Order: sequence, then structure tokens, then C-alpha cells
Amino acid sequence: MGNLLCSSIAVAVLWQTALGDCPISAPENGDLGDCPQTLSSGSSCVPSCEEGYELSGPARCAGHLSMPSCLPSGCNVSEAAVEHVLSLGNCPEWLESGESCELECESRFELSDNTSCFLGNLSEVSCLRVGPCPAGHQAVAGLCEPCPLATYKAVEGPGPCVPCPENSNTNSTGRSSLQQCTCPATFYEQRNVFDELLSCKPCPNNSAVVGVQRFGHQDCECFDGFVRVPEDNDLSLEYCRHAEPCNVSALLENLTGPEAYKLKMGSCSSYARLLPSGRQCSLLCDAGLGAQLGSDIFRAVDLTLACDDGDLVRRPTDGYLWCSEASWEVPPLVFLGITTAATILGGAAMEVRQHHFEGQYAKALRGNRGR
Ligand SMILES: *[C@@H]1O[C@H](CO)[C@@H](O)[C@H](O)[C@H]1NC(C)=O
Ligand SMILES: *[C@@H]1O[C@H](CO)[C@@H](O)[C@H](O)[C@H]1NC(C)=O
Ligand SMILES: *[C@@H]1O[C@H](CO)[C@@H](O)[C@H](O)[C@H]1NC(C)=O
Ligand SMILES: *[C@@H]1O[C@H](CO)[C@@H](O)[C@H](O)[C@H]1NC(C)=O
Ligand SMILES: *[C@@H]1O[C@H](CO)[C@@H](O)[C@H](O)[C@H]1NC(C)=O
Ligand SMILES: *[C@@H]1O[C@H](CO)[C@@H](O)[C@H](O)[C@H]1NC(C)=O
Ligand SMILES: *[C@@H]1O[C@H](CO)[C@@H](O)[C@H](O)[C@H]1NC(C)=O
Repeated sequence: MGNLLCSSIAVAVLWQTALGDCPISAPENGDLGDCPQTLSSGSSCVPSCEEGYELSGPARCAGHLSMPSCLPSGCNVSEAAVEHVLSLGNCPEWLESGESCELECESRFELSDNTSCFLGNLSEVSCLRVGPCPAGHQAVAGLCEPCPLATYKAVEGPGPCVPCPENSNTNSTGRSSLQQCTCPATFYEQRNVFDELLSCKPCPNNSAVVGVQRFGHQDCECFDGFVRVPEDNDLSLEYCRHAEPCNVSALLENLTGPEAYKLKMGSCSSYARLLPSGRQCSLLCDAGLGAQLGSDIFRAVDLTLACDDGDLVRRPTDGYLWCSEASWEVPPLVFLGITTAATILGGAAMEVRQHHFEGQYAKALRGNRGR
């Protein structure tokens, strides 16, 4: 059986060879690719190679078979991306597989290894810094890297970057002094007798350091719209709470009366009945009308509402407030009247004094004469 198969293959091969065709077998480190088992005379085909090998040419059958081989791929050394390389050194641009050579590094850098090529792949090499890293830098895998954020290195040397004090940070990498470690806005500083930062302490809730003075918790100030607890400035700040708004709904609901004579919400309309602390707003009369309290046409009415931590510190006088024509027209008259009256009264008072003085004088004269 085996004999029969062997002899039939042998017969086939012989027969084909007789016709001038070439039987093909796969090249070493490759396979037949697009080639048939038997290449007919006068034709060619392209076998394929494994990764890392390159074909030396096509396969041809011309009376005899010219079979290419798969050769190890070389490497292009100028394509190697190595930092701090000065030149190719003794390397050719094209390095054959299995060969090695030495790149040249910049001054103060040293090559980690010879460059070698293996089946199209270049070995990894690097140029390592010789000697210690400068201030603000530390050695990482043979290279000097800038100190990361929140660290610094004050001197040139082999040491690592030092972390900034607790809670402090740097605004950039590569920092070279402790002075470049700073506290965030909501923290104050703790320093030693040499004025060196020891740590950053958080200001109490809802407060932050304002300005450059940040020596202690006394430099923490409440944010806008917050109130210190305890209230007394001499006691140390515990935290800051939201300032209470003022509930003005009852006050605004008191604005009754016929529409034309009713006080209007004015700028208070934007505060859905709760006036935030620190804000103020003004009620308003229609044009041509003035605010009036009851029937009192003489007194000016303050229409401003102002809130300070839950207290309405400024508000119209209690009572029936409305808008009237009279109070719009009358105040100038009243003012005129009052000034005139004041002048008259003032004049009268002087006259009375003068009169009194003259009286005393006349009396004295009379007394002298009587003696
Ligand atoms: C090597 O690579 C460089 C840059 O990519 C290219 O300019 C050069 O022609 C290549 N050399 C060879 C021999 O392929
Ligand atoms: C690089 O190869 C040279 C010989 O070509 C050898 O003297 C040297 O020690 C090798 N360098 C390294 C780092 O292996
Ligand atoms: C060459 O490098 C590539 C990518 O790193 C890898 O996939 C491949 O296996 C390497 N070839 C050899 C022959 O080592
Ligand atoms: C970073 O901090 C330094 C002091 O450490 C300061 O002089 C510099 O202005 C800061 N830069 C920025 C962008 O804030
Ligand atoms: C401060 O705020 C934190 C979280 O924001 C909270 O857990 C803590 O109870 C607050 N402290 C005071 C005193 O309000
Ligand atoms: C404001 O006060 C009124 C009563 O005067 C009350 O009905 C209302 O719920 C209060 N609003 C708020 C938000 O406290
Ligand atoms: C509403 O007006 C009456 C008088 O008309 C006054 O007694 C009361 O205090 C007013 N209420 C408010 C919240 O101003």
C-alpha cells in the first residue's frame, strides 16, 4: 500500500519533470504563498515568508527551478526613537538581523546598551543621564524628570523630590524650593520659627483666607452670604452658616387697596417673598403718585426693604401704606411751608430775645436813675 503510493508519486514527479515543470516545496521560514505544488515551465510565483523574514525574489521555473529563500529582515537604525541621541555612532543606517552597534548619546548621557537587530526588530536602548539631577528634577529610570506637582527638590544631587507640606501644592512641575509650595484658598498656613511652611490647615466650613495674611484661623473669613458662628469676633471662628433670608410675604400681602392706589412690588417682585440676606429691594408707586402712610401727607415714606440675616433692618413704617396724588404734589408745598415757617419762627425768636434784652437794659437804667 505504502509502496504503491510512493511509486505513484515518483511516477507523477518523473512525468512532470519530463514535461519541464518544476515541483515546489515551501521555503524555510515560509510557505508556498500563491505558488502551486507544481510550477509549470516558464512561469513564476511568489512564496510567502514568516514575520521577520523577507523573500529574496520570486520563484521561477525555466528548465530548472530557481527558488528564493526567506532571509531574516534587517532594521533601519535611523527609525529608532531614542531620547538624547546625538548621532548613529558606529551604527550603519541599515543593521542586519543578528548584528549590533553603538549609538552615540549627547554629552552627560550614557548609552544603556548596544543596539541590536533581531528579525526586523531593534532592541530598546536609552541614553541615561550621567551624574546627579539638577534642582527641581529627580532620576526616574535613568532620566532626570521634573519633580511632580506637590513636590520639590531644592539642590542638585541624587536625591528624590520631597513632598510639599500637608495640604499644600505647587502650581507647576519641576519646582525647586519649599517657598513654591502654597496653601489652597480655603486653608491657612502653619509656619515654624524660620518662617518655613509646616502645613496648611483648612479654614472652618464656608470660610476662606482673604488676602495675603494667612497666619492662622483668625485670618479665615466667612464667604459672602454666610454668618460667623460664634458671632463674637473675639472668639475663634467655629464655622460659617448660611445667612437667613427674610420672609417678606406677610408684609407684601398687606399692600391692599384699589389697584391704582396700591403699592407695587417694584424690584421686590424678583424675590419670591424671601429676600436674601444682604439684599435690598424697593416697592414702588405708579408714576404721578407718591407713597403715603394713612392720611399723613407730610411724612416721607421709605419704600426700601433690606434684609440682614433674617432681620428686616429697613422697611416701610407699619400701617396702611398706599399711593396717593396728594403726597406727590404736597411734599414740595410742605417743604416750602416748613422752611418759611422756620425762618419766621427763627426771626421771631431773635426778636423776642432782643426785646427781652432791651427790657432788662431799660429796667437797669430805671433802677440807676431811681437811686
Ligand atoms: C530609514 O528611515 C529613514 C527615516 O524614516 C529614511 O529616510 C531612510 O530612507 C530609511 N533607510 C533605509 C535604508 O530604508
Ligand atoms: C557593545 O559592543 C562592544 C563591541 O562591539 C562591546 O565592547 C561593548 O561592551 C558593548 N556594550 C554594551 C553596553 O554591551
Ligand atoms: C517585533 O516586534 C513586534 C511588536 O513589538 C512583535 O509583535 C514581534 O513579535 C516582534 N518580532 C520578533 C521576531 O521578535
Ligand atoms: C506659581 O507660583 C509662583 C510662586 O510659587 C508664582 O510666582 C507664580 O506667579 C505662580 N504662577 C501662576 C501661574 O500662578
Ligand atoms: C462642615 O462641612 C462638612 C461637609 O461639607 C460637614 O460634614 C461638617 O459637619 C461641617 N461642619 C460644621 C461644623 O458645620
Ligand atoms: C412666610 O411667612 C408666612 C406667614 O407669615 C408663612 O405662611 C410662609 O410659609 C412663610 N414662608 C417661608 C418660606 O417661610
Ligand atoms: C399689616 O398692616 C397692619 C395695619 O394695617 C399692621 O398692624 C400689621 O403689622 C401689618 N403687617 C405687617 C406684616 O406689616
